[in-house]
Amino acid sequence: MALPNNNPTQTIAWQQLTDHFNEIKDIKIQDLYKHDDRQKDFSLTLNDLSVDFSKNRITSETIKLLVDLAKEIGLQEAIESQFNGEVINVTENRAVLHTALRSNSEDPVLVEGKNIKPQIQTALRKIRSFSNKVISGKWKGYTGKSITDIVNIGIGGSDLGPDMIVESLQYYKNHLNTHFVSNVDGDHVSEIMKRLDPETTLFVIVSKTFTTQETITNAETLKNWFLKSATIFDIPKHFVAVSTNLVAVDNFGIDKANVFTMWNWVGGRFSLWSAVGLSISLSVGFENYKALLDGAEEMDIHFRNESFETNIPVILALLSVWYNNFYGAETEAVLPYSQYLKKLPDYLQQAIMESNGKGVDRNGDKIDYQTGTIVWGSTGTNMQHAFMQLVHQGTKLIPADFIGYKESLYGLTDHHKKLMANYYGQIDALAFGKTKEDVHLELQVSGNADKINTLLPFKVFEGNRPSNAILFDKLTPKSLGKLVAFYEHKIFTQGIIWNIYSYDQFGVELGKELAKKLLKKQ
Ligand code: F6P
Repeated sequence: MALPNNNPTQTIAWQQLTDHFNEIKDIKIQDLYKHDDRQKDFSLTLNDLSVDFSKNRITSETIKLLVDLAKEIGLQEAIESQFNGEVINVTENRAVLHTALRSNSEDPVLVEGKNIKPQIQTALRKIRSFSNKVISGKWKGYTGKSITDIVNIGIGGSDLGPDMIVESLQYYKNHLNTHFVSNVDGDHVSEIMKRLDPETTLFVIVSKTFTTQETITNAETLKNWFLKSATIFDIPKHFVAVSTNLVAVDNFGIDKANVFTMWNWVGGRFSLWSAVGLSISLSVGFENYKALLDGAEEMDIHFRNESFETNIPVILALLSVWYNNFYGAETEAVLPYSQYLKKLPDYLQQAIMESNGKGVDRNGDKIDYQTGTIVWGSTGTNMQHAFMQLVHQGTKLIPADFIGYKESLYGLTDHHKKLMANYYGQIDALAFGKTKEDVHLELQVSGNADKINTLLPFKVFEGNRPSNAILFDKLTPKSLGKLVAFYEHKIFTQGIIWNIYSYDQFGVELGKELAKKLLKKQ
C-alpha cells in the first residue's frame, strides 16, 4: 500500500487545531501548572525511560486534536507500510527497513518477495566474528602485530552515526583507538595520519555508494600513505569496506572476504544499525553493539504498537508540529546533560534536516506550509554558559529537549547532583521564569532597592518557554539505542504528517555536481 497522500492543512483536524490554537495561543505554562496533576497527565514511560512533556503550551484538548490529525493523516497505516518493507521511499524506489536490522523477531520481512532476515543475521555474524578477531588481537597486520587503531573513512550517514555512538559509549570502549576521517579537507586526514602506525592500523572504508568524493579521496590518500611502508599484498590485512557497490570496492583493491555488505533498503543516515556500525562493534565489542540494536528494537515495538496517545515518538513529533506549524517556531534545541552525548546534535542535524528539509509534497507540488525544523544544540551544563541566554530571554520561541540520566557512569555523586540540579533548574527557569514581583523583592532583599527602576526589566524572565524532559536511568548501549530510534520515529512521523518524502536527499546533489564541474575546469 502506498503512503497516504493528504495535505495536512486540508484535514478536519488541522482546521480544529487552528481554531483551538486561536483560542489558547496566549496560555501560559505557569497558569497551566496550577492544576495539580499536570505532570502525571503529561508524562509517558517506557521501562527505563520517562518523558515529561508537561511544560508545553498544551492542554489535553491539544493532544487530542494532534492525535486526531495523526489518525486522519493515516499514520498507523504508514507505520505498517514502513515496517512491512513496502516501497515508501518512492522517489528512489526503495523500501526503508532500518527497523528490520534490529529486529529479533522470527517474522519474515519481504523485499521483492524475499525474506531479508537471514541476510541480516549472516551480516551480524560476520560483524561479530571480525570484531572478536580484531579486539582479541588474533587479527594481525602485515608485520605480525595486532591492531591498535581503527580509522573509519566515511561521511554523512557513513560517519556521523558511528562517530556519535562511539563517542557516546566511550565508557564501554576497549583498548582500540578509533578515529573518524570525513572531511575532504586534507588537513583532517593529515592530522589523523600523524597518530597512526601503518603496521597496526585497520582502515574501515564506509560508503554506501562507494562514489562519494570525500570518502574515496581520503581512502586513496590513506592507501597511498600505507603503501609507503607496505605492499599491495598487505592491503587485505589492513583495509575493509562497507558498501552496496561491490564492483567499486573490488576496483579499489579490497579483498572480497573483507567486504561487509549493506543494502539499498537502508538509508545512509539510518544505517548505523547495519555494517556501517562496524567501527562501533570494534570499539565497544559486539555484545554492546547488539545491546544498542536491542534498545532500538524496544523503541520500534513501542512505536509500532502503542496507541498514539501514549506513544513517545508520536507525541513528541506532534508537539514539534504544534510549535512548527502553529506557533511558527523555526528551530528546536537538543540539550543532552551528558558530555558523552556531545555529538548527538550533529548526528541529529543530518537525520532530521536531510530527511525533512523538503519543500515539495508527495504529489510533487510546492508546499505552502512549514516542514522540517532546524535542529541544533550542545551539552549541559556548558551551553548554559554559551547560548542559553537567548533561549531564556531572546525574542525567539525555541522548544527544547532536555536529555538526562538519573545515574552517572563513574558515580561522582556530587558532580551528578549538580548536573541534574542544573537540568531541572533550566527546565523550570524556561517554563516558569521570574516575575517582576520576584525581581522587585530580590533587589530589595539584596540591598539593591535603589537599582529597582533601572534593573528590573532586564532581570525579568517571562518564562512560558516549552521543553521536554527525556530522562533515562543510565547511559547504556541499550538506552542509547532507544534514544536514537526515538528520534528516527519522530522524523518519520513528521514526514508523514507533512506529506513529504523523508528518505530521499536530492537537495544535496546540486552542490556536489557543481563542485565536480569546477574541479574539471581547474
Ligand atoms: O550527503 C548526502 C549523502 O548521500 C548522505 O545521505 C549519505 O549519508 C552520505 O552522502 C554518504 O554517502 P555514502 O555512504 O554513499 O558515501
